[in-house]
Amino acid sequence: MKLLIIGGTGKTGRQLIQQGLEQGYQLTVLARNPAKVKVGHSNLSVLKGNVLEPETLAEAFQGQDAVLSALGHKQFFIKTSILSRGTANIIKAMRNSGVNRLVCITSLGINDSRFRLGLYYTLFTIPLILFFYFRDKAKQEKLIMNSELNWTIVRPGQLFDGKKRMKYKLGPEVGHYILTKFVSRADVAHFMLQEVQQNDYLKKAVGITY
Ligand SMILES: NC(=O)c1ccc[n+]([C@@H]2O[C@H](COP(=O)([O-])OP(=O)(O)OC[C@H]3O[C@@H](n4cnc5c(N)ncnc54)[C@H](OP(=O)(O)O)[C@@H]3O)[C@@H](O)[C@H]2O)c1
Repeated sequence: MKLLIIGGTGKTGRQLIQQGLEQGYQLTVLARNPAKVKVGHSNLSVLKGNVLEPETLAEAFQGQDAVLSALGHKQFFIKTSILSRGTANIIKAMRNSGVNRLVCITSLGINDSRFRLGLYYTLFTIPLILFFYFRDKAKQEKLIMNSELNWTIVRPGQLFDGKKRMKYKLGPEVGHYILTKFVSRADVAHFMLQEVQQNDYLKKAVGITY
């Protein structure tokens, strides 16, 4: 199966590459700076591209079976539309190249999972630090949900760089109104690679935490 990975130079994206290669997928990574992809493998190609520059996307999308997105950034506190604009361009590029399956990370706390990141996020982090980021993530989700794609939105709890346990809770009821629930980036990647094969959550937004 041929997969295009967006955000492969990030922390979750690196897990997608490592685990994807271990599982025998044929991977293409779209990266703003291809030199940041430190892995070399016969089943891995890296193409230069920026999701905010649609003209740089076409080649990477050609012939793919699915797209996995771990797109993110660190522009907190300020107004941003990187995720929604980037995702609109991803959806357009998928349409243009006939790729129909998208598995995309957003976050717990978005749209109908509001408040599920626990009280600390609900009362402090989201309103004071992540307000614009989360508003953009909500737009990103709506664009995906309103697309004609076979999409799965993956909403993790707080991420950390722990090991893969391959045991986690999944579903719309995941998360907690008071406590912040965690999940490792390795397990988020594990689930995304499983979901792209199994299609258990087609056209669904699924929370993931321990
Ligand atoms: N941290 C948490 O607790 C938490 C919880 C829930 C959900 N999430 C979400 O999970 C996702 C993954 O998180 P992470 O920590 O793995 O992210 P990350 O390490 O910040 O990686 C983000 C990736 O997106 C890429 N990217 C940014 N702008 C791009 C552009 N214009 N074109 C192409 N690629 C671009 C980055 O590329 P460069 O290397 O070029 O910058 C990088 O590869 C994010 O959406 C994050 O918000 C995080």
